[in-house]
Amino acid sequence: QIKAVIFDLDGVLTDTAIYHYMGWKMLADKLNIPFDEALNEELKGIDRMTSLNKILARGNIDLSEDDKNLLCDEKNAYYVELIKKITEDDLLPGAKRALIELKNKGYKIGLASVSKNAFSVVESLNIANFFDYIVDARTINRGKPNPEIFIACAEAIGVKCHECIGVEDAVAGIEAIKRANMFAIGIGRRDILIKADIVLESLKDFDIDKLT
Ligand code: BG6
Ligand code: MG
Repeated sequence: QIKAVIFDLDGVLTDTAIYHYMGWKMLADKLNIPFDEALNEELKGIDRMTSLNKILARGNIDLSEDDKNLLCDEKNAYYVELIKKITEDDLLPGAKRALIELKNKGYKIGLASVSKNAFSVVESLNIANFFDYIVDARTINRGKPNPEIFIACAEAIGVKCHECIGVEDAVAGIEAIKRANMFAIGIGRRDILIKADIVLESLKDFDIDKLT
């Protein structure tokens, strides 16, 4: 029996995935590293330093830890500037309705984002009150596709993993949900999110009664 729904943030509840993309593209261009759609899909759901390492590997570039930290800081400063303008209007279609419906029907709601900017984005979107638990990315040792963040969220909420639905737009995120032994809803394209139990085009199609 389903008791909780655990959402990813970027690309699921709001379209910050595009801002992360813009930040990484800016760095890749600067380093003359080709940045295509496939690489961008690989980066979705992946923490900051691991993402940079994947981009550098694509360009066969080796840098010191200090230089890598500087690049991560640069990308983040760019991203932070972009998310400053976020308001409630930036919730993706269906997101608010899904949260309201889950709350009204007594389901627990969790947020499992590896983004260190997640709290600030949630505040700007004015949805903090909906969540029974928001994972602090700083407390997670192994990012997605490792299931740790989803398992930690379920534990904090006080439900078993098999009683949870996870919602994700990233290949790495779907893998994390499945490895956590949860039901996985993909938001996006079926041909990309092949491991998801079901794929919806957006949260507009999210219907908890049909799912349970
Ligand atoms: C994930 C995004 O939610 O957070 C990734 O899908 C991003 O694209 C990651 O790299 C880390 O975010 P941040 O804000 O900590 O750099
Ligand atoms: Mg995402």
